[in-house]
Amino acid sequence: MGEPRFIKGDHIKEDLVEKLKEIFQSLIRFSSGNDELAAGLVLCPSLSNEELNVRTRMLLHQEEINTGGGYTSDIRRRSFLNGRIAGKMAINTVFPDIPSATCRIITGSIGKPVIGDLPRPYGISIAHNESWNAGLCFPLSVPMGIDVETITEKNRTIIASILSSREKDLCSSEGDPLELTHLLWTAKEAAGKAIGLGFRVPTAWYEIDFVETLKTEPQRIHQCRFKNLLVFTALSVETPGGMLSIAFPAENNLSQTMIRLLQLT
Ligand SMILES: CC(C)(COP(=O)(O)OP(=O)(O)OC[C@H]1O[C@@H](n2cnc3c(N)ncnc32)[C@H](O)[C@@H]1OP(=O)(O)O)[C@@H](O)C(=O)NCCC(=O)NCCS
Repeated sequence: MGEPRFIKGDHIKEDLVEKLKEIFQSLIRFSSGNDELAAGLVLCPSLSNEELNVRTRMLLHQEEINTGGGYTSDIRRRSFLNGRIAGKMAINTVFPDIPSATCRIITGSIGKPVIGDLPRPYGISIAHNESWNAGLCFPLSVPMGIDVETITEKNRTIIASILSSREKDLCSSEGDPLELTHLLWTAKEAAGKAIGLGFRVPTAWYEIDFVETLKTEPQRIHQCRFKNLLVFTALSVETPGGMLSIAFPAENNLSQTMIRLLQLT
C-alpha cells in the first residue's frame, strides 16, 4: 500500500498513526428494540494506482468500474473508486459470503449511495478525502452516516464562515478550535448522509447545539447533539486521516457500542 499522507494532530497517539496506515475493518454488533443487528465499518488509506487497479477488479461490479472509468477528472475517478472499495469492504464485513463484485452500490438521484443485490435491507455510507476513505454498512432500519475531513486551517476558515452563531460559540468554548470546528462540520455531514439529503438542504437543518467530550483515552471521543434532529446523535474522533464522525439514531445501546468502536483499538 502506498504510504498515506497523514497529518498528525497533537492528540493522536503514535500507535494509532501506525495502525491506521493499514485497513481498519470492524463488525459492530448491537441491539435495537428486540432486534440483534450488525453493521460494518472500514477505514482505508487511499490506494496506490497499482493497488487501486487490483482492488477495483477484485471488489467492484462491472457497472461501478464503468462509472469510475467515465470520470474525466483523475482525482474524482480515484476518490470514487477508493470510496466504492471502502464501501464494498464494509458490506463484506456484514455479508462475508457474498462475492463483492456481484453486488452494486448505485448512486441515487440525490447522490445517496444505495446497495442493490443484498438478501437483507442494508444501506451504505461513504466518505473520502485525499488520504483516507470510509465505508459504513448498516441496517436500513437504523440509518447511519459517516464523514471524514482533512484538518487544516484553511478548512477551518471555510467551515467557520458557514456555521451558525451557536456553533461558532461552541467552537470557541473550552477546547481546541481547530478540532472543534472540524468535528462539528463532520458531524453535520454525517447526519446529512444518515438522513439521505446531504447538504441539498440548508446546513442549518443540522445545527448542533451541544458538544461533549466523552472519553480522552485511548482516543478523544466527542458527542454532538442536534438542535432539530433530536433522534440522531453523532460521535467524532480525531484520527491521522482526518476528523471522523458517525451519525446514528440516539439509542443508548448503540451509543455505547459506537464509543467502543471509535476507540479504534
Ligand atoms: C453529502 C455531501 C455533503 C458530502 O460531500 P463531501 O464532503 O464533498 O464528500 P464526502 O467524501 O464526505 O462524501 C461523498 C460521498 O457522500 C455520499 N453522498 C452524496 N450525497 C449523499 C446523500 N444525499 N445522502 C447520503 N450520502 C450521500 C456519496 O457516497 C459520496 O461519494 P461518491 O459520490 O463517491 O459515492 C455532499 O455530497 C452534498 O450533499 N452535496 C450537495 C450540495 C453541495 O455540494 N453543497 C455544498 C454547500 S456547502
